[in-house]
Amino acid sequence: APHDVELNINAGQTGAVINKDIYGQFAEHLGRGIYEGVWVGKDSEIANTNGFRNDVLNALRDIQVPLVRWPGGCFADEYHWREGIGPRNKRPVKVNTHWGGVEETNAFGTHEFFEFVELLGADAYVNGNLGSGSVREMAEWMEYMTSDKNSTLANERRANGRDEPFDIAYFGIGNESWGCGGHMRPQYYVDLYRQYATFLKTPPGKRPKLVGSGGHTDDTEWTDVLSANIDRDMDGISYHFYTLPTSDWQKKGAALGFDESMWLATMERTYRMDEYIRANVAVLDENDPDGELGLYVDEWGTWYDAEPGREPGFLYQQNSLRDAVVTAVNFNIFHEHARRVHMTNIAQMVNVLQAMILTDKEKMVLTPTYHVYGMYKVFQDATAIEFEIQTDNYGEGDKSVPAVTASVAKGKDGKLYLALVNLDPKESASIELNLSGASATQTVGQILTAEKMDAHNSFTQPEVVKPKAFNAKLSNLSLPAKSVVVAELK
Ligand code: AHR
Repeated sequence: APHDVELNINAGQTGAVINKDIYGQFAEHLGRGIYEGVWVGKDSEIANTNGFRNDVLNALRDIQVPLVRWPGGCFADEYHWREGIGPRNKRPVKVNTHWGGVEETNAFGTHEFFEFVELLGADAYVNGNLGSGSVREMAEWMEYMTSDKNSTLANERRANGRDEPFDIAYFGIGNESWGCGGHMRPQYYVDLYRQYATFLKTPPGKRPKLVGSGGHTDDTEWTDVLSANIDRDMDGISYHFYTLPTSDWQKKGAALGFDESMWLATMERTYRMDEYIRANVAVLDENDPDGELGLYVDEWGTWYDAEPGREPGFLYQQNSLRDAVVTAVNFNIFHEHARRVHMTNIAQMVNVLQAMILTDKEKMVLTPTYHVYGMYKVFQDATAIEFEIQTDNYGEGDKSVPAVTASVAKGKDGKLYLALVNLDPKESASIELNLSGASATQTVGQILTAEKMDAHNSFTQPEVVKPKAFNAKLSNLSLPAKSVVVAELK
């Protein structure tokens, strides 16, 4: 039977601002994420602007990407910035030891990254190398990027084609320092953080937000040790959580061709984001009662078994309606925690893990996840509105989850927006919506849904899953099975 849902919205009761950086992207030197996915070089037959693919640039502009994190990921802790500046034909060729052991030409370096984000109109999140770099190397990179003086390093940047300092919105001090970033204990990391941060000097007004490398999944120790022991020069702590349909890294589950039990398991694991954020926020509220630190979910998304026949180290996977639903469930969770969650980066932007865009040489396809980013862009810098939702569950026993999730906010344009997700792949949901503090009679917006659970867009059929108009009377509001809706309440 259809799910019965009651949604009570009090439009007069506002909450936190939903920082646009919640809609950030992650672009690592991994597989075809940067090379081919973004960067093809000026001489490529693929249409490009200064070496950046035009089709990818235009698609990313359409979803208003606010922020891009680079160069990793695990790659960040083996990246040496000096190798990625100066004439491209003189840059050293390295081995990307973490991802597939392939050649890394360093063709995409600091200047290319900033040109890319500037072409997008996005902000930059640079992740520094704590694991295999040095304090001096990190400090010099910061000077190279931001100094406005006549120093040798700033002049080297000018000689490489950039007069004005670059703007950095966020700078990460290491990545996953508990793992690929050095297998450290948080107690040791804390001292390193304090040391490295001391030497990151910038001109007045140019200091990026500094990010401590935090924990993952159900861990709260990193958040605790960092927030209790770093009392200066830290604006937020990173946190990573990936949705694997199973909990087994050797058999994560397939991106396509899965059954309903895998759909449900994926939804159940996605919901854990709420539980884990809650646990980390409780720690922050204790150690940082004034709420100065952000919790930055700077890696999240689905992680399936790599597509058969492909290089496993490239983490290439297809993306289906299931991923779209996972995205929207996460957005609704992030909005709810907007007080602390000021920034997130989905992993990853192009051709890697839960990607917005897939490319095959000159071809490009937009994934269902991409479309959810497009639908939700009205929530960037919107103000959350309080609501209560009563819904029954989808699934049985310890795998059951609330069937419907929602988010409500007042957009920057002053309009009232509603997002609704029905996670159940078989049953629709009828919504009794009670609105106070505003008047509206209908929804005007878009819906994303499809016939099959693993409906997806391919290079031969690129438009199987795409948004359609969703205009309904509030007195008769019903969500089809496995659907995402974003609409204005008018
Ligand atoms: O996104 C892929 C990898 O996942 C990142 O490099 C790393 O930080 C995480 O383990």
